[in-house]
Amino acid sequence: MAAMLKGLPRLLPARCLSSTAGGAAATGTGPATTPLRPRPNTLTDEIIRVDHAGELGADRIYAGQMAILGNGPMGKTIGHMWEQEKEHRRQFEQLIQQHRVRPTIMTPLWNVAGFMLGAGTALMGEKAAMACTVAVETVIVEHYNDQLRQIMDSPNPDKELLQTITKFRDEEQEHHDTGIDCGAEQAPFYQALTEVIKFGCKTAIAISKKI
Ligand SMILES: [Fe+2]
Ligand SMILES: [Fe+2]
Repeated sequence: MAAMLKGLPRLLPARCLSSTAGGAAATGTGPATTPLRPRPNTLTDEIIRVDHAGELGADRIYAGQMAILGNGPMGKTIGHMWEQEKEHRRQFEQLIQQHRVRPTIMTPLWNVAGFMLGAGTALMGEKAAMACTVAVETVIVEHYNDQLRQIMDSPNPDKELLQTITKFRDEEQEHHDTGIDCGAEQAPFYQALTEVIKFGCKTAIAISKKI
């Protein structure tokens, strides 16, 4: 039976596999550097899908800001945050592969929307770009804190995921603080601008969790 299972395609649902199937899948078709793991539970699945989408969006937001402000006085600061977002995205892309999680079908939209949000606010000025950063990072820090509580409350907390999200949450908090330090609150229509962006981010999160 185990020998028969070895030949099964790697996307076969976990419920179809015996307890030895995780090991069989680990010897499957994934790249050598990212060993496949047993099929994740629904919580892990949802967390990885939505965080992958969020970090992709964040990468594109900072790319949009850099396209407009990259050569200005804020270029270095924004560039540093962008580098961290690229690393967050890279790590969630790895987790998506390792856990065989389906990415959100909204990926192409978040790609474009993220860039437009970053570039659009940057066109309004450096302070508006920072207001965008503050709004986005406020939502992401809250979102990561919610996830950390969910993971810790789960029967088998995934320690690696806890560590990853804790580190990223701290870096997102730094991005938020950088935005405040760089004058976000002096942006025109700061309150309205940040509320609209926060609402957009929360909607994107709710959608990406499910589809
Ligand atoms: Fe991030
Ligand atoms: Fe961030």
